[in-house]
Amino acid sequence: MKIVVANWKMNGDCDLVSTFIEKINAVTTTNTIVVCPPVALIGQFKDFRYSIGAQNCFYEDKGAFTGENSPKLLKEVGCEYVIIGHSERRAIFNENDDIVFKKWEAAQKNGLSSIVCIGEKADERADWKSVLQRQTEKFIGKNLGNTIFAYEPVWSIGTGVIPTLGEIAEVLTFIKTKVGESTCCLYGGSVNATNAENILRCNKVDGVLIGGASLKPDEFAKIAMMV
Ligand code: 13P
Repeated sequence: MKIVVANWKMNGDCDLVSTFIEKINAVTTTNTIVVCPPVALIGQFKDFRYSIGAQNCFYEDKGAFTGENSPKLLKEVGCEYVIIGHSERRAIFNENDDIVFKKWEAAQKNGLSSIVCIGEKADERADWKSVLQRQTEKFIGKNLGNTIFAYEPVWSIGTGVIPTLGEIAEVLTFIKTKVGESTCCLYGGSVNATNAENILRCNKVDGVLIGGASLKPDEFAKIAMMV
């Protein structure tokens, strides 16, 4: 059983939601399927058979934080998961490891399962161990029963370039050594229906986090059914 997560990023619309629900509801699998649409579309997923996640949340439940999304309300409107610390949030919205950790704490408090994204940038490739060490440090020793880590090398996101299966296994082994062998770890970065099967068979990979290919319902359905 694997975890297959769709991250739509700031893409999709009401029409895509309808097609996606129709195609993915027809999928029969024991895999855990999660779709993380833009927050504005979450209300359109009422008839979805599988799980919904948000792409981000704030670290407070309420207050004068115009434009932010409350983890408490995300839970109330049906989200079971939330992605935290995606590299786009880190790069464009200046989220650092302290903010990521505060968001994780807020998600935990509200009973949301967190998908914490970690991964090195292109110029950090030679030094990936210290990047991942820094990004996981605050989580070490915490109760991570409700936490999934997603290894997304930034140089692989949207580029079509993926690490070798050996590299993925090595990195996920390293992460599990830090956060615990039983903690679920996903791979993300240019996953598609062609490469997903091998990635999912890879030792240590508990699932995949998919951007671009998750916007194509037929392609996502294929991956969702893989074992
Ligand atoms: P792509 O699958 O488009 O490379 O995006 C990966 C990603 O950032 C998922 O969170």
